[in-house]
Amino acid sequence: MAVAGFFKSIHKILTRYPLFEVARTALAQPKLTWAYQRRSLTMPTLPARMMIDPINICNLQCTLCPTGQNTSGMTQRAMPFEMFEHIVNLNPNLRMLDLFNLGEPFLNKDIFRMFELCQKKRIRVSVHTNLEAYDMDMVERIIQSPLARLHISVDGLCQETYGYYRVGGSFDKVWKNMKYLSRRIKETSRGPAVEWGYLYHKRNKQDISEAQKRAQELGFKFYARPLVIVPQERGPEWHDSGTIANEPISFRSDVVCPHLWLQMTLRPTGQLAYCCFAYHDDDALSEPLTSISTPEQLLELWNSGRVKRGRACFRKGTSFREIKNPMLCETCNIYPRTGGLDPEKHPYDMTFRDWLK
Ligand SMILES: C[S@@+](CC[C@H](N)C(=O)[O-])C[C@H]1O[C@@H](n2cnc3c(N)ncnc32)[C@H](O)[C@@H]1O
Ligand code: SF4
Repeated sequence: MAVAGFFKSIHKILTRYPLFEVARTALAQPKLTWAYQRRSLTMPTLPARMMIDPINICNLQCTLCPTGQNTSGMTQRAMPFEMFEHIVNLNPNLRMLDLFNLGEPFLNKDIFRMFELCQKKRIRVSVHTNLEAYDMDMVERIIQSPLARLHISVDGLCQETYGYYRVGGSFDKVWKNMKYLSRRIKETSRGPAVEWGYLYHKRNKQDISEAQKRAQELGFKFYARPLVIVPQERGPEWHDSGTIANEPISFRSDVVCPHLWLQMTLRPTGQLAYCCFAYHDDDALSEPLTSISTPEQLLELWNSGRVKRGRACFRKGTSFREIKNPMLCETCNIYPRTGGLDPEKHPYDMTFRDWLK
């Protein structure tokens, strides 16, 4: 039985990813992981995972989102399909794509063409959405599309708790869309795997377990995470503890940030970014990728000076004194070992076990 299951899984993998691609990904992944473990400054190959932001414009005004509040200081735009296609073609190792970052992905009119292109290239796509910019036709299109994972951001169970963070949003509308999506997935046995992400703060915390129950009824996965507060001094408005550092579930602040090694992040302008938290025009790492045409050039960019300096922040023995001109990673709140800590009291001494935790 177990043997039959094993061969069935192998068959499934080979149908989805022909042998050549399996081999290429299988060879690239250990190289990348090894470079990450050693915190190498230079990466040997392009990553299997990318985040491409298709649009940094949104229909909501969430209170702490740089797009919602229009405080990002970045050029707002949708990525044209031709640019998206060019970028995807530059990375032959690409297998997993996060097609969102700082906007509402479904406002990009070409989003479904992007899913289709990725399907042809056997790239799994995941999208985060507020599920508000929808009508029933849009839900039908999603169900029929090759999207692999849909993450819906709904942090409350009534207008008061939901709208407290999701300013401009309507709980009734989002709830109607959620029920319709669930019903149609069940009726058609099609559609993406759906995950309900609940950002909690002190005004909506009480509803987490009821939301989890409802997610189960809808057939969605569920998780709750604390709202991240930027700037930190606004912490007491949102968390009883005043900071996410004391919250039980948090981002992996105990590991070395993986972004600069294992994932490449692109803005709607087509420029390389440090990570999904870097959004100012002046911290872009490159010109739009339309200026290059080969995977080798892309790898060269990914190993250029500013990216290497970001990686250097995590190396054992690197201190702020050695890094002149502060840069983004040194002041990151999410992976705080890179910044805000006194390097003498907190040397960069993480072990292999540390980051596996
Ligand atoms: C910026 S949003 C863009 C995608 C889409 N508009 C949405 O809200 O899901 C990407 C992810 O960031 C999350 N997010 C927004 N504000 C956040 C905050 N202050 N702390 C942590 N995550 C946040 C959203 O819930 C979503 O999962
Ligand atoms: S819905 Fe998403 S992108 Fe839009 S303002 Fe809220 S968090 Fe930002």
